[in-house]
Amino acid sequence: MLVLDLGGQYSQLIARRIRECRVYSELVGHAISPEAVRARRPYALVLSGGPASVFAEDAPRVDAGLFELGIPTLGICYGAQLMALELGGRVERSGVSEFGRTPLQAGQSRLLAGTPAEQTVWMSHRDTVVGPPRGARVVASSPGTPVAAFEAPERGLYGVQFHPEVAHTPHGLEMLKNFLYEVAAAPPVWTPAAVIEEQVERIRAQVGRERVLCALSGGVDSAVAALLVHKAVGDQLTCVFVDHGLLRQDEAEQVVETFGRHFQVPLVHVRAEERFLALLAGVEEPEQKRKLIGREFIRVFEEEARKLGDVRWLVQGTLYSDVIESGGTEGVAATIKSHHNVGGLPAKMRMRLLEPLRLLFKDEVRRVGEELGLPERMVWRQPFPGPGLAIRIIGAVSAERLEILRRADAVLQEEVRRAGLYRQLWQSFAVLPAIRSVGVQGDERTYGYPIVIRAVTSDDAMTADWARLPYDLVETISARIVNEIPGVNRVVLDVTSKPPATIEWE
Ligand code: XMP
Repeated sequence: MLVLDLGGQYSQLIARRIRECRVYSELVGHAISPEAVRARRPYALVLSGGPASVFAEDAPRVDAGLFELGIPTLGICYGAQLMALELGGRVERSGVSEFGRTPLQAGQSRLLAGTPAEQTVWMSHRDTVVGPPRGARVVASSPGTPVAAFEAPERGLYGVQFHPEVAHTPHGLEMLKNFLYEVAAAPPVWTPAAVIEEQVERIRAQVGRERVLCALSGGVDSAVAALLVHKAVGDQLTCVFVDHGLLRQDEAEQVVETFGRHFQVPLVHVRAEERFLALLAGVEEPEQKRKLIGREFIRVFEEEARKLGDVRWLVQGTLYSDVIESGGTEGVAATIKSHHNVGGLPAKMRMRLLEPLRLLFKDEVRRVGEELGLPERMVWRQPFPGPGLAIRIIGAVSAERLEILRRADAVLQEEVRRAGLYRQLWQSFAVLPAIRSVGVQGDERTYGYPIVIRAVTSDDAMTADWARLPYDLVETISARIVNEIPGVNRVVLDVTSKPPATIEWE
């Protein structure tokens, strides 16, 4: 399926929903030519919504020749308006806009087949289709939109003013399935197993007999990328795991256990904790910490890479959402420049990038990871920052303070998991501030550190809300932390959203 992106906020979501129906879909620019579409031989086209008014001067358009290709086409919101406009229908700036949940009256329709005659859909529009394309039938209406859905099955044209891709349209997925399976006759074959098979072949073809290097971080992206490459080219892959000593409890062992022992991937485990601690000694300024860690990380990685000799490929966990955001959708292998992720490699070691996750959304990476047998803990790991615990220790990082934070964080993780909340939270972690306060334990006065509990919900980390953790859970975490960890005598809860705060404390 090709989804033509007309600039709407839900374009990516449309592509993801289609893939959830196990049909491979790609987002392409709206200016794509009919010839280019024909060459791709898609089962169907979807025209996305868009922020513009079809009457705006610079409103994005599609080539009308697309509608002559005989390929089933679904227009959503702005996309439906464009279809109407190009094909002899009428669109008006009605003055009545519809936003949010809207009641819909549906009639006989291929697209809406099997969904209730009266249902709720999600609308977000100002302009309105008032006349369907020539020859198309109106199959649904809402109070503000006489033509909420139209279709001309014999020409393969379908349009909806509402958004079937959002969860607020309860029967939206059924409509998409009707379009995919019934109208376009696209088979549901895009499964994790199929992705693996396809990627493995592609990697083999790209890499040949050359050697490949992959940096493991403990995160799901690099883990899945590494396993895919290993499945494809076996011991031609070497993974380098730079352990900067700033990971959470047991994380480093888990990487070594999973990759080195379980999957038998050639693994270089670089124990660099002391090097990083020495580097960070006395450094309090957050940006300074980040810079030092980033630079040193690259230095260590390069030292190891050089030792490996003639390696031609570097694995990178680039995701489809990164590809879309950077505007490029063609798989071009780039040569690494000195300022990129891994910089300064000597000229003879210039490596080309291998990006086996380039076509996948995050949730698909997880499903592929599961299929490859990656442990649940890695597949579902919450995001974790590159500089690790160093930016959760306010002020100077020392072995002693790292140990306190690591233990507190382990208690928090364990209890959050036990409460069944781990996957619902975007992130949950402990922070160690640089203050101390007075307490009393037994009959003794104490002067110890507080631990901050930070837990947030979020979709993309751009904004976040503090999680309303159950008080009983907060109590358990608090009691365990002060009882089990010497040097801590107080636990506080961060109740700040982002903005104005950030998720991390530094
Ligand atoms: P903030 O604190 O800016 O964080 O609200 C947003 C998201 O980004 C993560 N984060 C990082 N990830 N390297 C990373 O790989 C970093 O230096 C870094 N700093 C923040 C953070 O955990 C959150 O998910």
